[in-house]
Order: sequence, then C-alpha cells, then structure tokens
Amino acid sequence: MATAAQNMVAAGRRPEATQALRLAALVAARGPAAPASTAAEPVIRAERLTIRYGEFAAVREVSLDIAPAQVTAIIGPSGCGKSTLLRAMNRMNDFIERMSVSGKLLYRGGDVYGPAWDPVELRRRIGMVFQRPNPFPKSIYKNVAWGPMINGYRGHLPELVEQALRKAALWEEVKDKLNESALALSGGQQQRLCIARAIAMQPDVLLMDEPCSSLDPIATRHIEDLIDQLKAQYTVVLVTHNMQQAARVSDRTAFLYLGELVEVGETSRMFTTPDNPRTQDYITGRFG
Ligand SMILES: Nc1ncnc2c1ncn2[C@@H]1O[C@H](COP(=O)(O)OP(=O)(O)OP(=O)(O)O)[C@@H](O)[C@H]1O
Ligand SMILES: [Mg+2]
Repeated sequence: MATAAQNMVAAGRRPEATQALRLAALVAARGPAAPASTAAEPVIRAERLTIRYGEFAAVREVSLDIAPAQVTAIIGPSGCGKSTLLRAMNRMNDFIERMSVSGKLLYRGGDVYGPAWDPVELRRRIGMVFQRPNPFPKSIYKNVAWGPMINGYRGHLPELVEQALRKAALWEEVKDKLNESALALSGGQQQRLCIARAIAMQPDVLLMDEPCSSLDPIATRHIEDLIDQLKAQYTVVLVTHNMQQAARVSDRTAFLYLGELVEVGETSRMFTTPDNPRTQDYITGRFG
C-alpha cells in the first residue's frame, strides 16, 4: 500500500496537488495526533439522525460520535447541513418553524430530544459561538457575568469573569476597561469575548459555527490557538469552511455532502489519505 508521502508525491503531478500538499504539511507540522479516544464514551452521539425543514431533509441519516476533549471539525460545501447538524446538538434549531428531527441524538447518553434533557439545561452545558461575534450592547464585564448571574451563580462573580476572560485570552487586553461597552472592541476581541461568555457558563461542550469567518488572519490565529488550548477542558465541535483551519486545529474531521456524512476520521488521515474520492475532491478544492 502506498504511504501518505508516496501519495503526496504522486499527487504532486496533478494541479490540485498544491492544496493537498499544503494540508499534509499543516497536519505533519502538528506532530503526532492526539491520543485516539475511541475507547472513551462519546460526549455526543448521532444515530441515523435526520433533520428536516418541512419536507426537505437537510441532514440525512447521519451517524457520528463526538469524542471527549478533542476538536471535531465539520467540513463540507455551503448548504450541506453543517450548521443544521451543529445547532441540533444544543437544540438551537428548536426556534426554527417546521423543523423536525428523527433518529437519535444523545448527549452523555441521554436523548437530547427526549425527557432526559431540559433544553435550557442542555444549552447551559453545550455552549455556542456563532459566525459573527454577537456581544450584548452592555459592558465587557456584564457580557460575561450576565449568564451565570441569571442562572443563580453563587460563587464570586468577578473572579469567574476574570477566569473566563483569561481562558479566552482576552484578560490582558480588557482588564482596565471592564466597564466599557463590548461593542467598542475589535471583531477578534468581540469573538473572544463571546467565547469568554460561553466559558463563564462552565459548559461541557463548545459548538463553534465558523467562528473566524469574519476575522482577519491575526485574529483568526488567536482564536485557533485558543481552540487548541480549550480542548484540554472542553469538547469542541467546530464548523469551518477553511480547510487549513481544520488541518491546524482539529483532531477529527467529519465531511458532510448534501446532508450525508461521507467520511469521518482522524484529521491527519482524512487530509492525507481519505477513503472516499468525494472527500479527496473536496479537500483538494476540486469542488465546493
Ligand atoms: N430555517 C431554514 N428553513 C428552511 N431551510 C433551511 C433553513 N436553514 C437551512 N435550510 C436549508 O438546509 C440546508 C442546510 O443548511 P445549513 O445552513 O445547515 O448549511 P451549511 O452547511 O451550514 O451551509 P453554509 O456553509 O453556507 O453555512 C440548506 O439547503 C438550507 O437551504
Ligand atoms: Mg452554516
């Protein structure tokens, strides 16, 4: 069987090789993959999950395990169902009319759409960061303190706020202006504030839907470094259009196409020797 390196050399003769070689180099630069945690219980498990808007099935019979303390990237062309799948995990889709779910979605073994999980508690445990930073029009401090406050947090709130801002790598930049408006921060700072806001709820899982798509390369790098650190404590599911980003930060990658899960596996393998030709075509930029 050809090695990944041999495959890459062979690929070098084809026009799409530049992208493939770049991704392989990014994956290789990260060193050995995080220990496979297939033995550990998945944090989230989808079993033949189908999500419809009216008659239209945006996600079709997807079976996928999200492993603990890892970053799982969900990639695929626009409209393939990435956000729909992500939003199902903490029931954010509930707010969309005519949305229906069949199959199973489990969080920590309990049925997300059954009586096991109250949606409000579920969203406390499974936080979400959106594509565009969406801070409240309040002070930096209040943005982070608000959630824990209305959830009856009994600890020392200023300390929780500081910890969350430190974990989001924003503390040094804002510690002297906590009472200033969050809207005065830069886009990258606002996105880190939104991550701090999610962290302050002491979640178990962080869902991120293209968190860097409105940011410049430097702010993007900040967030990617942060995601890399966050996985020590949280399980992260990251939707991204940016293949380099998936190669840089994720441990596992799931490729969706037209609502179906084409392939899932270790990022290092997916980006060097994918099983499915459609995955190969997508990651090398031949379509999508
Ligand atoms: N609220 C909605 N009502 C009806 N159809 C929807 C709704 N939201 C999404 N869809 C459809 O479901 C499919 C999947 O959409 P989704 O937003 O999950 O894709 P995506 O992979 O996140 O795309 P993108 O990369 O552009 O964000 C698309 O065909 C979309 O048109
Ligand atoms: Mg989307």
